[in-house]
Amino acid sequence: MIPVTPSKTLTVFGGISLDTMVRAVRLPQPDEKLWVDSLGDFCGGMGANAAVCFSMLGGKSILFGAVGTDQAGRQCIAQLEEAGVDTSNVCRDNGSTFRTFAILGPDGEKAMLLLSAADMAGLTHFPYLDLVASHDLVHVAPGRASPPVSMLQGWRERGIGTSADIEPAMLDRGLEVAGWLSACSIVFCGRAAAGRMTGLENLDGCLTALLERGPDIVVITKGRDGASLACKDGQRLHEPGVNAFVVDSTGAGDAFAGAFLAALAAGRSLDACLQLSNKIAALTTTVYGSRLTSHHLAPFIADLAMSQ
Ligand SMILES: Nc1ncnc2c1ncn2[C@@H]1O[C@H](COP(=O)(O)OP(=O)(O)O)[C@@H](O)[C@H]1O
Ligand SMILES: [Mg+2]
Repeated sequence: MIPVTPSKTLTVFGGISLDTMVRAVRLPQPDEKLWVDSLGDFCGGMGANAAVCFSMLGGKSILFGAVGTDQAGRQCIAQLEEAGVDTSNVCRDNGSTFRTFAILGPDGEKAMLLLSAADMAGLTHFPYLDLVASHDLVHVAPGRASPPVSMLQGWRERGIGTSADIEPAMLDRGLEVAGWLSACSIVFCGRAAAGRMTGLENLDGCLTALLERGPDIVVITKGRDGASLACKDGQRLHEPGVNAFVVDSTGAGDAFAGAFLAALAAGRSLDACLQLSNKIAALTTTVYGSRLTSHHLAPFIADLAMSQ
C-alpha cells in the first residue's frame, strides 16, 4: 500500500535562487578570457524546481522560501508565478536574493559559482503550522527555508505525507540525518548522499539501510543510470536511465522529486511514479535551467489529469 494519501496540493520548503547561465566551448582555464553565449537568468533552487515541476504537471504547489526585494527576487517570483506556483508564502526580505552563476560546457558539464552576499535575504517569519495543517503532502529541501525536523515529525505522526531531498552539501553542513530519516515518509537522494548516510557502496545495501531508519519509501537517483526505489511493503524497483541529449543537468533531481510526488498525488502506483519521474527528469536535462514547457509536459499532464 502506498503510505501517502492521494492529494493534489504539495507544500514545498526549499531554496530559491536566480541562476545566470552561459554556455562555453570549454570551461575556462585560470587567466583565460573566454567569450561565452549568454543563455539568460533562470529561477532555480531545490525548492523552486520541485514546486515548479509539480505545478506544471497540473498540481497545486505552495512554496515557502525567501527572495530579496531586488530585481533578482522579482524575476524569480515572476517565473514561479508563470509556472503556476503559489508564492504568497515566499518571504520577500530586505537584502539580496541568492544568486548563482553557471558555465555550461559542451557535454552538459558545468562549473558553478555561488554568490555569497553579506545581505542575503533571510526568513523572518514562517506561519508553518496553520498552512500545512490543511495539506497532506509536504516536501522539504533541507536548508535555510526548512521547518525544524521536530515539526516535520509531528506532521508525519498526524498522517501528512512528508518527503525530503537530501544532498551531500547538506551532510557537509551537519544535517541531522537520523531525525530527517525518521521524520520523512519519502526520502530522495543521489548515490553519493546515500553512500555517505549509510557508509555503504552497494545500491541494494543503501536502500535497505535507509529504509530501516524510518522512511516508508526511499528513492535513490543515479544520474544517467536512472533511479531505484525501495518501499517498506517489500517492493524494489529499478528504472534504467533514459537516453537524453543533455545540455544542462542542473535541477534534474529536484524535478525528479516534484514529478514523483505529482504522480503519487494523482494516485499512481510506485512503479508508474518512478517511470514518470525518471522520464521527466531526463527531459529537464535537455533544456537550459530545467525549464520544461507545457508543450514538453502535455502527454504527462494528460496522463495524470490532476487539474480535473
Ligand atoms: N545524463 C542524464 N541522462 C538521463 N537522465 C538523467 C541524466 N542526469 C540526470 N537524469 C535524470 O535525473 C535524475 C536525477 O539526477 P541525479 O544526477 O541523480 O540527481 P541530482 O540532479 O540531484 O544530482 C536521474 O535519476 C535521472 O532520472
Ligand atoms: Mg539533487
